[in-house]
Amino acid sequence: MTPESRFPLADRPRLWGTAVSHYQVEGDDPCDWTEWERAGRTRGGACGRAVGGWARYEEDADLARDAGANAFRFSISWSRVEPRLGHYNDAALDRYSRFIDHLIKIDVEPVVTLFHYTHPQWFHERTPWTSTESIARFAEFTARVAERIGDRVRVWIPLNEPLVFLLAGYFDGQIPPGISDGRLLPKVFDHLMAAHCAAAAAIRERSPDAAIGVAHNMVAFAPERHGSFLDRMLAKIAHRCYNRGVLEAFGSGKWDFLLPPTTRVRGHREELTKSLDFFGVNFYSRLHLRCPGKERFIGEFRYLDAARRGLTDNGWEIVPDAFEQILHEASAIHLPLIVSENGLADASDRMRARFLQEHALMLARTPVHGYLHWSLLDNYEWLDGFGPKFGLYEVDRVSMSRRPRPSVKTFRTLGRQFLARPLAQRSAGEALRSL
Ligand code: FCB
Repeated sequence: MTPESRFPLADRPRLWGTAVSHYQVEGDDPCDWTEWERAGRTRGGACGRAVGGWARYEEDADLARDAGANAFRFSISWSRVEPRLGHYNDAALDRYSRFIDHLIKIDVEPVVTLFHYTHPQWFHERTPWTSTESIARFAEFTARVAERIGDRVRVWIPLNEPLVFLLAGYFDGQIPPGISDGRLLPKVFDHLMAAHCAAAAAIRERSPDAAIGVAHNMVAFAPERHGSFLDRMLAKIAHRCYNRGVLEAFGSGKWDFLLPPTTRVRGHREELTKSLDFFGVNFYSRLHLRCPGKERFIGEFRYLDAARRGLTDNGWEIVPDAFEQILHEASAIHLPLIVSENGLADASDRMRARFLQEHALMLARTPVHGYLHWSLLDNYEWLDGFGPKFGLYEVDRVSMSRRPRPSVKTFRTLGRQFLARPLAQRSAGEALRSL
């Protein structure tokens, strides 16, 4: 069976579009993250009105369309839909439903994410991810959403970056629920996988032809000193655990990897292998690792401008070659790939056009069904607040007006080329390693 043979979108045009998430654009959405801001746990301050996206979704979709997009990835706010445990807010669901009608009217494919880091305020107290109840709650939330919009949405991503959430929420405690306890990692990972499966089943029940994926954050890892055996080994281990752990979980239904410093995350869920129609890759950059580290013996990582293509405004290395390697790596799962996020913080827009061109080149060499650029708009970048500017469109946060950056033109041209080109073919022997 080829990766395409059971892909529900195989006979449709590929996707070229943009991505946002609810909390980062909508504004005024009380949830666990709002509490986090109140407690002073973000470096960049509070989200507040964000970029006023809740009232401007249609206008923003039109901007994406003007930029040549035929797909728009966004997420549904769980806290809006279920503000109190078991109480669903029809008005919020109606709002998303109207937006989806608009997307369809302008010929833009909605790509719907259900979990993008934030939770309703009651969640961590009442049904945290450490309890099996979390799985049922997420499935029920998904079912409500799918009942309302499943007749029109064909592309779903139940979970955005489960591993990033696991590490930041339960290991280093940087984001809600702010727990630092390595012993919880195996259980929470298992529950996230189960929640994905339950959500996929809830979607398929209401929308049998839906294409379901996961958005996995993948990072290129390199030894800081190529001559150092330990640096090389650490880079290999990081790759194996961070990138491949999730790939293997979805590819084989089994996982077994280490998380720092020495937690073994091991488990299996047979149903995972049947829960995906495509694999979503969120790719941004490369980390250089050294072992022992200068401060942490076990190892340290940092961004370096090793590819000589510059660092983004938030210091991430721009490294298109690594994007190609990561896509090769991801193709080992033998599922259609969609780049569910890729982009850069570049307020001056001096680097964005070249970044787009060089990353799009990699798409021409890999069979990829879609590319969703992060992001359409400057938005609230979690712990960093409104500092990093990821938008193809610049946002004035006083008037909330949007203005295209010059690189929108490049994005449009590349989109046209991407959509006109047949899917890149690769010989079976090339890079596709079985899991
Ligand atoms: C990804 C997140 C997204 C955004 C980008 C820059 O990891 O999914 O919300 O913050 O990074």
